[in-house]
Amino acid sequence: MTGRLEGKVAVITGAASGIGLATARLFVAEGARVVMGDINADRLTGAVASIDTSGERVIGHTVDVSVSSQVADLISTAISHFGRLDVMFSNAGISGRGNVIDLPEEIFDRILAVNLRGAFLCAKHALPLLIASGGGSLIFTASELAMVAAENSAAYCASKTALIGLTRAIAVDHAAQGVRVNCLCPGPVDTPLLHGNRTDPEEHARSIIERMPTKRIGNADELAKAALFLASDDSSFMTGTTLVVDGGVTALW
Ligand code: NAI
Repeated sequence: MTGRLEGKVAVITGAASGIGLATARLFVAEGARVVMGDINADRLTGAVASIDTSGERVIGHTVDVSVSSQVADLISTAISHFGRLDVMFSNAGISGRGNVIDLPEEIFDRILAVNLRGAFLCAKHALPLLIASGGGSLIFTASELAMVAAENSAAYCASKTALIGLTRAIAVDHAAQGVRVNCLCPGPVDTPLLHGNRTDPEEHARSIIERMPTKRIGNADELAKAALFLASDDSSFMTGTTLVVDGGVTALW
């Protein structure tokens, strides 16, 4: 490892699983200290322990990203434990299947509350601290479904597409204060979220792979490397944009 985040402090949401967990592990390996936030307290305990049990590099904090006071607490933990904030990776997300006619309004509201309001709240509470640290990197996780649609994904597509607008708006407002804001758009990645509550995940995976130019699903470590690029000075002239890491799925007609 090359110490690309040496001395930096990061907060990551959705860090108990999948892309968030892989990114926490990579950020620590690159020298960062990390506050890992997730709504699933049990899984979070195991995730933190899998990286560092000393409390010196990593701490876990249970959070529902849709609740402002909880997000404020999560982010202030970075200051109380590690003294600063340099990277906010707003990554927690949920999916939910249904077309607009069938999808219950409560499910639509919940998907927007976690995926969009959660990102807004992470930005709202992190930005003053990033600015106080002399600038930093704010990263959202959107999706390939911010670019194209899949069947029965109306609320998820809407929430993820909105993140691209939020990225641009915050980037424009805060570039002069040294904050860069970018949006990571993963394609299909092998995590629990990919299969939702489908009864046959293997068949679902096969149907996705068939349509992928690369003929494989991505893994969380491949997205963690992209998040590292956006978090580090390697992307120092990059703000207000999207980084699509999708195995070519949005390139396909
Ligand atoms: P995952 O299911 O492995 O991880 C998501 C984590 O977010 C879970 O640990 C979950 O407990 C947490 N979470 C859910 N609601 C929360 C809330 N209200 N507050 C705090 N934490 C909450 O899924 P994955 O794939 O790692 O997802 C990470 C991000 O990547 C999500 O935003 C997802 O939409 C996005 N994404 C994933 C793709 C995939 O194929 N896996 C494709 C495109 C985007």
